[in-house]
Amino acid sequence: MMNEQQLIAFFEDLHQHPELGLQEVRTTQKLKEILTAAGVELLDTGLPTGAVAVIRGSRPGRVIGLRGDMDALPITEASGLRYASCEAGKMHACGHDFHTACMLGTALILQEKRDQLAGTVKVVFQPAEEIAKGGKLVADTGLLNDAQEFYGIHSYPAFPAGTLGIKEGPVMAAPDRFSVTITGRGAHAAQPDKGIDPIPALAAIIQALQTIVSREVNPFANVVITVAHVEAGNTYNVIPETAFLEGTVRTLDEKVRLQVQQAMRRVIERTAEAYQCTAALDYQVGPDAVVNDAALCAEASALAREMGFQVARQEDTMGGEDFSEFLKICPGVFLRIGTGGDYPGHHPRFTVDPAALWPAAQYCAALAMRRAEAEK
Ligand code: NI
Repeated sequence: MMNEQQLIAFFEDLHQHPELGLQEVRTTQKLKEILTAAGVELLDTGLPTGAVAVIRGSRPGRVIGLRGDMDALPITEASGLRYASCEAGKMHACGHDFHTACMLGTALILQEKRDQLAGTVKVVFQPAEEIAKGGKLVADTGLLNDAQEFYGIHSYPAFPAGTLGIKEGPVMAAPDRFSVTITGRGAHAAQPDKGIDPIPALAAIIQALQTIVSREVNPFANVVITVAHVEAGNTYNVIPETAFLEGTVRTLDEKVRLQVQQAMRRVIERTAEAYQCTAALDYQVGPDAVVNDAALCAEASALAREMGFQVARQEDTMGGEDFSEFLKICPGVFLRIGTGGDYPGHHPRFTVDPAALWPAAQYCAALAMRRAEAEK
């Protein structure tokens, strides 16, 4: 068993050695060493990174899933921390080192208390959240199919240590990705009539896409369409053959998600046609929105207050999260753990307050124990 200082030391070590999605080899190895030494059962996921730990109680009960993610971001750290990243161009700038350490603490606490546990707790150490791949990879193993409730955690800079963010309903958006290639016909820039310029078509499409949000979708629905990358041509006196754009769509509701996708195809193809071009839309569906179960939010909030945490509603966000892969199995809650700090996630100066770690692990263990034993 680890104490608070040892768990914080584990977190600091992970922070110094960030690994990108699907490359979390060292992190996985360290985790497995500690879990195995503590006698915690590990399931064979068949995946090169990540782990699923199981704690089986001494009495029958329900199966509860917990999930923390493990991967870092391709950012060079500028936090100035004593335990800042040793890897140039890699940083735990989203607190996934905190999540991993928290879930390790949780698994160790549950292992120690398993004679008091009624039911089974499966603790998922998920790789590759930042590239929206790991959730599906782990869920597709089928190892979590018997879970009856799932809880995920995320660090939250807007709240100090000691505060949990719990909110029912949609808390993270479905992050889809799209790209468009517009094809015209290249020509001399002085002779536009001899070609078909794809650049005005590109400009018109970028403008027209926003009317889907403002003129087609119910104003009470939440939709973001962002064009984030545009490319066309490479010099001043040549009309290029093609133009390219890509971006992301964020939605909270499945029907709206489909409506937007269909409208985009129509607007893109027909706008291109109006400019005598053709346009091909490649729409890549990402993870679903994360939607928290209202009854389970009430349970999670009640326990948090009993344990002395402040509970607050986190701010709405159109950020994405592949925790939704586990909510396809059963209902659950994506919880925000207040971790303080002056900078938002994905910032080179992002930090978490290590004081939040031990209480968060205690809370996750208590939540899993209570829900495993619950009637329903
Ligand atoms: Ni994150």
